[in-house]
Amino acid sequence: MKYDFDAVVDRAHDPYSYSMKWRTDSSIGKLMAEMLGYDELPEDRLCFQTADMDFKCAPEITEALIKTAEHGIFGYSAPPAAYNEAVCHWFSTRFGWNFAPESVFLGAAGTHEVIATCIKSYTEPGDGIIVLLPSYNYHMDIEPIGRVMAGVQMINDRGYYTVDYEALKKACAVPENKMIILIQPHNPTGRVFTEEEILKIGEICRRHDVIILSDEVHIDIARKGMKVLPVMKVLGPKGVISATAVNKTFNVAGLAMSNLIVEDPQLIEKLDKGLPIATPFGISAVIAAYTKCAPWVDELNEYLDRLIDYAMERFAKDLPKVTITRPEGTYVLWADFSGYGLSDDELDERLKATHIIIGDGVMFDAENGRQFRRFCLTSPMSQVKEAFDRLARVF
Ligand SMILES: Cc1ncc(COP(=O)(O)O)c(C=O)c1O
Repeated sequence: MKYDFDAVVDRAHDPYSYSMKWRTDSSIGKLMAEMLGYDELPEDRLCFQTADMDFKCAPEITEALIKTAEHGIFGYSAPPAAYNEAVCHWFSTRFGWNFAPESVFLGAAGTHEVIATCIKSYTEPGDGIIVLLPSYNYHMDIEPIGRVMAGVQMINDRGYYTVDYEALKKACAVPENKMIILIQPHNPTGRVFTEEEILKIGEICRRHDVIILSDEVHIDIARKGMKVLPVMKVLGPKGVISATAVNKTFNVAGLAMSNLIVEDPQLIEKLDKGLPIATPFGISAVIAAYTKCAPWVDELNEYLDRLIDYAMERFAKDLPKVTITRPEGTYVLWADFSGYGLSDDELDERLKATHIIIGDGVMFDAENGRQFRRFCLTSPMSQVKEAFDRLARVF
């Protein structure tokens, strides 16, 4: 391998890290300790709670950021034509998905912000936004602006999740439900929706004029042999918006750069476009990532395959009562601990004893998620091994 994904980088103490996931001295660190029932987060903690990788990003991105820093003036900045062209180039070469540079709308405050922008642009207060449960948490985008989250449970067949089309039809038939947020690949279940599934979802949504917002921030992270289809490539642009980002793929979430892809003229007209300004660092990083870093992403996926293979083996060997399926895309593992028959509090206590920080299932499904945990497998192999040794000891 050309790139070193085994290196352990100290994100907890390095003065320039500012990591939300690792630092204890941030407001988030304190909140996290409280939520997990610790007075203080343990020094030997291992962090798997956030979709934020512990690998240094591609050297080509760091180089672009250094050159930007060396320029020495950080005035108001707007993306050049090369920015939109870089986005088009990536999706054309990686996915055979072609769209015009004018279809790219930059959001420089991250994906949550562009999602909230879409909700505000295309729905009214009181309208419903459908999400497939369990789901990455869109509450914070939907509820503060007076919309209602309309959850549709997916069908869970021993850890393999599929869409409940009858439930989706019912939800789409409710006149207030104006939009659905899909996630491709799906977080937290790791499903990659097939062409057939996307076509069925599209047909149901279009029958009721429900706008499809496809959150594709994990689209580049896929298991070997999996082909991830962009939803707009399958359905065409009418009534469809795609939210894309370099954040997950290239481990640059702190730069908060996202892009909406919108080709439908009616949707473009209604979109609150704001001003296309961003930090010079964000602009530089996106151009470098999308034009120079494909080999890094390929190696990253190989490394993630190894981590996930290892984790699946350890679950089978050391935690055989956990129900889990190998994710098809993303680096998240959605693990159901209910097979152990522990009360919710007992499960919390056992996991707390491991000093492994993971995502609580209720964040993804308030009603049914209590016995689930989400692991983001985004750390060097040595830390993943250590985490499974600790889990094996307590289960
Ligand atoms: C599916 C999905 N969408 C959006 C986000 C948030 O992205 P951003 O940091 O760009 O707001 C995440 C972060 O984990 C995610 O998993």
